[in-house]
Amino acid sequence: MTDNLYFFMVAVTIFFSFSIFLAILIFAIKYRRRSPDEVPPQFHGPPALELAWTLGPLVIVMIMFAWGAHVYFAVSTPPENALQIYGVGKQWMWKLQHMEGQREINELHIPVGVPVKVTLTSEDVIHSFFVPDFRTKSDVLPGRYTTVWFEATKPGRYHLFCAEYCGTRHSGMTGWIYAMEPHDYQAWLSGGASEGSMAAGGQKLFQDLGCASCHLPDGRGRAPSLVGVFGSAVKLANGSTVKADEAYIRESILQPNTKIAAGFQPIMPTFQGLVTEEGVTQLIEYVRSLGQPQAAAPGAAASTETKAPPAARPQPDAK
Ligand code: CUA
Repeated sequence: MTDNLYFFMVAVTIFFSFSIFLAILIFAIKYRRRSPDEVPPQFHGPPALELAWTLGPLVIVMIMFAWGAHVYFAVSTPPENALQIYGVGKQWMWKLQHMEGQREINELHIPVGVPVKVTLTSEDVIHSFFVPDFRTKSDVLPGRYTTVWFEATKPGRYHLFCAEYCGTRHSGMTGWIYAMEPHDYQAWLSGGASEGSMAAGGQKLFQDLGCASCHLPDGRGRAPSLVGVFGSAVKLANGSTVKADEAYIRESILQPNTKIAAGFQPIMPTFQGLVTEEGVTQLIEYVRSLGQPQAAAPGAAASTETKAPPAARPQPDAK
């Protein structure tokens, strides 16, 4: 898709460069000065010719614009069913984590024929996640989530680079993406020693950090219940509404007083420095696992109740 647009633009460029050089050559010979005092006659072209050389290029560049916009929107909109991966860039490595809990460093295993969405952030400075073979690149910024998505069509090993100068060992911040047949990928997933899914990791953090003592699932706590929050529109104390996406949840953990949910006091302490970027993504996955927003129906309360994992209740820890 990206390649076809690229080849089209290269072809247009070559065609016009060649035509212009050819015209210069022909005209230089055909209309060369034949006597020292020769003055060429003034020439007024017909309006049709003027229109043609104005509208022709306009049509060509509008094709490039529309085509480019189409490619841009396709590249920047991950499909709904994309496989979710979280990535954190740091000086100087890529840390990647699968929903099932597998962690990788400078390596990412993915199935072929499945769209993969990588949500990225940085622990320190700006990096850039660049996979030339997938024609995709995205800056990775501290304090913000960016996403890239791609779909590998052939099994194989593909280069992963950091494309933003990020310090001494920037050039060493490379890795490999292994695209595997889906059944190989499943085998790989079940083979690695995993410490449980990301949501389970997030659930443990939710207990360990004490979140669970205020965010009670029945909504009677000092803080809002997080059941069914992910993806919903949250009413804020200042009257505005915000979509509970990854960025909102991250902000609510690290700068909890920036956006206060309507009906609640700004009493939540910040967890800046207490939880890593990877921990934040696990917490986000835990909140996501608590359910997506549901239409308010008589039975809705009961169905969200069953979705709330039992461990949302405080549990005594052996440690
Ligand atoms: Cu990270 Cu360059």
